[in-house]
Amino acid sequence: MAVTRVPFIAGNWKMNLDHLQAVAFVQKLHWALKDAKHLDGSVEVGLFPPFTDLRTVQTLIDADKIPFALGAQDLSTKDAGAYTGEVSGAFLAKLNCAYVLIGHSERREYHAETDQVISEKVQAALRNGLVPVICVGETSEDLEKFGASAVPVGQLEIALEGVPADADIVVAYEPVWAIGSGQAATPEQAQEVCAKLREVIADKLGQDAAQRTRVLYGGSVKSSNIASFMREPDVDGALVGGASLVVDEFAAIIRFQKHVGV
Ligand code: PGA
Repeated sequence: MAVTRVPFIAGNWKMNLDHLQAVAFVQKLHWALKDAKHLDGSVEVGLFPPFTDLRTVQTLIDADKIPFALGAQDLSTKDAGAYTGEVSGAFLAKLNCAYVLIGHSERREYHAETDQVISEKVQAALRNGLVPVICVGETSEDLEKFGASAVPVGQLEIALEGVPADADIVVAYEPVWAIGSGQAATPEQAQEVCAKLREVIADKLGQDAAQRTRVLYGGSVKSSNIASFMREPDVDGALVGGASLVVDEFAAIIRFQKHVGV
């Protein structure tokens, strides 16, 4: 039986919007989507604010029954202890975070996160009942040397080591050269790599997991190109950076329905 994957539109705010700005933003976004189908479960919206905003955003979405899922941008490999500055997955789970980004290219580049650390973070997320959004992608040098898929495939293989077959995970293919550059991958390239990543999931976790797991594309996604990505069979949504900070842009991306006209 064919499995339907609910499209997932995830907004990665990065280090933008303090907790007061976050309240105004979430209220405006909710308002902009009032008449939209996002309330009917045909698309899932995830917000990934900075740690300092999580409590405030969680209180707001609970109080106003706003159907946005909450996610963090990172977590510690450890659950508690003498790790100054780190944030525990257990604490995130208590804040009703459902998701956590792991292995974003900015973490890999600026915080020297290795594939091994990322694998430990995936384990930490699962241990605490969080869904890891595992980010993989090639740099422009990788692309030139190895083509588009070799590096993301290798990164995902390591991240999935020791992950149980029934684990709930999301994978995000984000070519590093496309992030924040205004130059998105072509839909064909996104499809090709997302399909290869789904094969990795099938290899490591089995066919059921491959069919049910959502694979997102990220990197300069905007309202003007979301349709072209969502048309691809193996692209189940988008991880959106810059455009997730502009209410009308992000609302327009969310409004796009994968199965429009079907
Ligand atoms: P961008 O960022 O949409 O601004 O390219 C995507 C990301 O880093 O997740």
